[in-house]
Amino acid sequence: MDFFEKHLSSTLQAHVPYVPGKQPSLKEEVLKLNTNENPYPPSESVKNAIFEEIEKLRLYPNPQSLELRTCIAELHNLSQEQIIIGNGSDDILNLCMRCFSDHQLKAGMLDPSYSLYRSLASIQGSQILGVPFKDDDFDLPIREIIESNANIFFLTSPHAPSGKEFELSSLKQILNSYEGIMVLDEAYVDFAKENAVSLLNEFDNLIISRSLSKSYSLAGLRVGYAMSSPKIISILDQAREVYNLDRLAQVGAQAVLKDRKYFEFTKKEIIKTRDQFHQELISWGWRTIPSGTNFLFTQPVGKANERSASVAGNLFEFLLSNKILIRYFPENALTSSYVRISIGKASEISILIDKIKLWQDQEIRR
Ligand SMILES: Cc1ncc(COP(=O)(O)O)c(C=O)c1O
Repeated sequence: MDFFEKHLSSTLQAHVPYVPGKQPSLKEEVLKLNTNENPYPPSESVKNAIFEEIEKLRLYPNPQSLELRTCIAELHNLSQEQIIIGNGSDDILNLCMRCFSDHQLKAGMLDPSYSLYRSLASIQGSQILGVPFKDDDFDLPIREIIESNANIFFLTSPHAPSGKEFELSSLKQILNSYEGIMVLDEAYVDFAKENAVSLLNEFDNLIISRSLSKSYSLAGLRVGYAMSSPKIISILDQAREVYNLDRLAQVGAQAVLKDRKYFEFTKKEIIKTRDQFHQELISWGWRTIPSGTNFLFTQPVGKANERSASVAGNLFEFLLSNKILIRYFPENALTSSYVRISIGKASEISILIDKIKLWQDQEIRR
């Protein structure tokens, strides 16, 4: 054990850090379909808002992001006391873990789902319990979640990496019986048919986490938020970094949220491209989960109709060598034969389709 390991806290010694998807340098010419970013730039209004704010950068930002909170409260018809802002929704998830989990209070998550929950638990020194899916239909394991006895449960809805949208009635069924704190991670919900905001009126133990990284094209600015009961928000607020959102992010976020026309336009385009691409994949005989997100989870078919981790890995490597980045998840039996593809512009998906067809030709000849 070297000097630093000897001085490291025991929690950190056991910690498994989160590994984000590859973020290549902008100088590299790649088609980036691996981390579910939006292919469209953010609303033009962001530029002006940020430009005007630059002069004020000598002053600290508003610590509670008050104007942004009001803007979000109005958007969802809630009160400002029901909103907290995060430096990305990862910051919100971190606050939830810090406040409601420790070495005695267990956390829960769907297995597989967003792997960050696991690292947040490990850095907190808490145990995280993975509730598995029955099979790769990714139906919600309702009873198992209720009976998990987790003090806080992280439920990714719509689900990642499958893209599956869960019925509001199933979420309600869980909330009716589950006795802990429920976090619905709605990072992708703007691409879905339903969201759970209406449930906030009924359940004080519900936290809904949202991101501006996907549907608002602001992954680089780092803004997310949570909606919950005023009591839970005031608890989360105690654990928040004092100035967790800088001035540029506060005004940039308000600007994108107010440009509803652009938001609706880009969202519609992405959903259209997603649904067309889904049809194409189905026509090749690739099993593809109907998606309520801006990505598709699909099972490539190799030579002699083979569907396996090796076929998925082979497609991933082929596309990588052709400068197209997608994601695959070999570590879990339910996901290993699938790949996850973020929805780009229609022209980008068309380039991807051409490359996949080349791969299919190679597979036939193999
Ligand atoms: C399910 C899920 N939740 C949260 C996030 C984090 O988003 P943000 O950029 O707002 O931190 C991601 C990012 O990929 C995600 O997939």
